Amino acid sequence: MSRRNNPVGILDSGIGGFSVVKQVQHLLPEEDIIYFGDGAHIPYGNHSEQIIVAMARYMFEFMERRQVKALLVACNTISCVVDQCRDAVSCPTINAVQAGADAVSGLNVEKVGVISTVFTHNSRCYPQRIQEKNPQKMVVLSCGCPDLARLVEHNLGNPEGMAEVEENLHKELDHMVLVDRIQCCVLGCTHYPLVMDSIRKLYPDLSLIDPAQQMALELKGYLEREKLERNSGVPGRLSIYTTGDVAEYALRAQQTGLERVEVVTPYPAMEI
Ligand code: DGL
Repeated sequence: MSRRNNPVGILDSGIGGFSVVKQVQHLLPEEDIIYFGDGAHIPYGNHSEQIIVAMARYMFEFMERRQVKALLVACNTISCVVDQCRDAVSCPTINAVQAGADAVSGLNVEKVGVISTVFTHNSRCYPQRIQEKNPQKMVVLSCGCPDLARLVEHNLGNPEGMAEVEENLHKELDHMVLVDRIQCCVLGCTHYPLVMDSIRKLYPDLSLIDPAQQMALELKGYLEREKLERNSGVPGRLSIYTTGDVAEYALRAQQTGLERVEVVTPYPAMEI
């Protein structure tokens, strides 16, 4: 039986993946989406590899039970360990780091910066994937931010909190932008595109790459190739599950401009 009407799964450690949901809703408005945000355990980027894999597998298994037809790993940190999780789902996965590296390879630049969580930075996952695609020319600088994702998760829309986010952006990005003079910057954590306006305000001349756009494009390509696009003529629904604060997720969904949020449901957290 065709899985055409099955939902697309999108997961992240928190609300960061809403930046990916937004792009998917824009490009594929008829798709039903199931979102899982592990709010109880954010930030993933400061955990060990073993714990990240266990927490990620918990979410992959959740998605497998809901029979998603494709799974978007909208967490760069999990994307770095995705080879250790893929067997938990039977559908294809599209991950943020590969999408970010794919997006960079279409650009005519020689010095690329990546900002990400500490785990993603330490894993060297981005420089490796970018250089695999562009062996001859690219210099890739990377910076791991221990606090930024958490600050975005809990402060979106709150002026005092956003001042803290901007202060943190200065601390983390000034050197790469003003001293190293990167030509573009990959937002290598899905939380960061949610504060794109602040980043643009602080660094108006810096080109920014949001892997979410590439992920949505890759999803569209896959669904078209496999004849799995849902074309029922009615807009798709978005169901959000979280191990975190349901009211906060509902507010964030609204603040980030997500459409057709059907329900935000609490889900038990994995014990670690
Ligand atoms: N949004 C996640 C990412 O893209 C990370 C945030 C966290 O540290 O949990 O890496």
